[in-house]
Amino acid sequence: MTPPQADPAVELRGITKRFPGTLANDAVDLTVRRGEIHALMGENGAGKSTLMSILYGMTRADAGSVRVDGREADFASPSDAMAAGLGMVHQSFKLFDSLSVAENVVYAAEPRRFGLVDRAAARRRVRELAEEHGLAVDPDARVGDLPVGLRQRVEILKLLHRGARTLILDEPTAVLTPAEADALFAVLKSLAAQGRTVILVTHKLREVLEGSDRVTVLRDGRVVARLVTAETSADKIAAAMTGRAVELDRVHAPGTPGDVVLDVSDLTTDGVREASLTVRAGEIVGIAGVAGNGQSELIEALAGLRPTTGGRVSLLDADITHASATERRLGGLAYVPEDRHAVGTAPAASVAENLAMGHHRTSLSSRGLLPPAGVRAHARQLIDRFGIKASAPEVPASALSGGNLQKLLIGRELAHEAPLLLVEQPTRGVDIGAIQNIHDQLIAYRDAGHAVLLVSAELSEIRGLADRVLVMYEGRITASYDKNEADERTLGLAMAGGATREAAAVEAVD
Ligand SMILES: Nc1ncnc2c1ncn2[C@@H]1O[C@H](COP(=O)(O)OP(=O)(O)O)[C@@H](O)[C@H]1O
Ligand SMILES: [Mg+2]
Repeated sequence: MTPPQADPAVELRGITKRFPGTLANDAVDLTVRRGEIHALMGENGAGKSTLMSILYGMTRADAGSVRVDGREADFASPSDAMAAGLGMVHQSFKLFDSLSVAENVVYAAEPRRFGLVDRAAARRRVRELAEEHGLAVDPDARVGDLPVGLRQRVEILKLLHRGARTLILDEPTAVLTPAEADALFAVLKSLAAQGRTVILVTHKLREVLEGSDRVTVLRDGRVVARLVTAETSADKIAAAMTGRAVELDRVHAPGTPGDVVLDVSDLTTDGVREASLTVRAGEIVGIAGVAGNGQSELIEALAGLRPTTGGRVSLLDADITHASATERRLGGLAYVPEDRHAVGTAPAASVAENLAMGHHRTSLSSRGLLPPAGVRAHARQLIDRFGIKASAPEVPASALSGGNLQKLLIGRELAHEAPLLLVEQPTRGVDIGAIQNIHDQLIAYRDAGHAVLLVSAELSEIRGLADRVLVMYEGRITASYDKNEADERTLGLAMAGGATREAAAVEAVD
């Protein structure tokens, strides 16, 4: 499919923006044609959000010009940009939780009758827009009660209500489940088919390949590639984003499993029923499944963060079924949680302090205390090994980007050299360049003889790393495959509840 050759909806010429110490945009040219879905890609810090905030009148450029629908534009505020037909959905939504969907959609642009807000008209308007654009949502629902995917719809409806012809979405799928993301792309495609223009800011390759017409890639504030999606590939985009060849979706050679490290039989907890599995030294066992099928609950129960109500768990032959999280750590378990903010790290503490956490009883400590010089040296070593971008070990963890925080967390947990590592979504929100590094580190950890239990929503990650793949469906482990049997189709089917073989039967053959 060739992308539309229509007139430009947006033209940015020579946009330059300098922040203290950073050239965020360096003479950027960007042309977005009417009716296309244009992906603006780049790793974290490449300058995407800055460029969009200049286009949207939120930030002033140091140099350059903006044209919208062929007209010279010099927006002093987002309301100027809106008046010119632009609309932006920000990374964090700007809705009123206590108001209804209809109230949010028409907010500050309310239909009025005799000077009063016409609520019936507002509800009607939302229904019309929702129907026209396939954005089904109940106009009377309270926004605070809606899941993230629907709140995003409300943001889009709000822009359409104000007549936006060009929609800018900044990392819209960062907060969505795969199914919600698919639904969003269906909506964006139909908006583009009606002649609206979509600028999609993202660093996710797959959705760009599936959902865009053209791609502009930024690196270090500069445009490094302009591509037609149908004529490019994930490898080419990844190489442009990172500045080097990246081997995507690499399938690592299998490990050499040794003795059983983790033995779980019939584990039951809230959300998990009678799960049985083993993980051996030198082996990565992957758990695949659609989010919400009990994977997180299983890992939390194994980490000691949720009570085990049935079954038995042993770690290195010790019964840990009812052990506390601390006892499990001391017994040889390390854990990289899915939620790196709430559970994994302390934002106010420094990078060095975060990296030292949990090390009070290791070689780093001296009589239970952590000597500052040792903590700093330990931090420097991990910052280097994992390529954590932090200006100094003393900066607070809250100053790190999501991807760098993830590297910190994984680095800290691997440094424990625990016999068993539980790791959930190790590369969610992480740049492609860094994903490869994290994968290599996990494989090296396995090859050093550690056992790894991996939960990931990315099938390519599971297939690339795991020696054995288990599938969870509705709280149960419903299938088990060896590395060579675990192709996308087989796993996809099992994840949808169509496993053809019982895990138990497969285990018996092993
Ligand atoms: N308000 C600001 N003050 C200082 N530096 C900023 C500001 N906004 C962005 N930057 C810096 O500009 C660069 C580009 O950031 P950004 O546009 O947010 O990138 P992206 O959206 O591609 O991740 C980064 O180095 C970032 O730290
Ligand atoms: Mg950004």
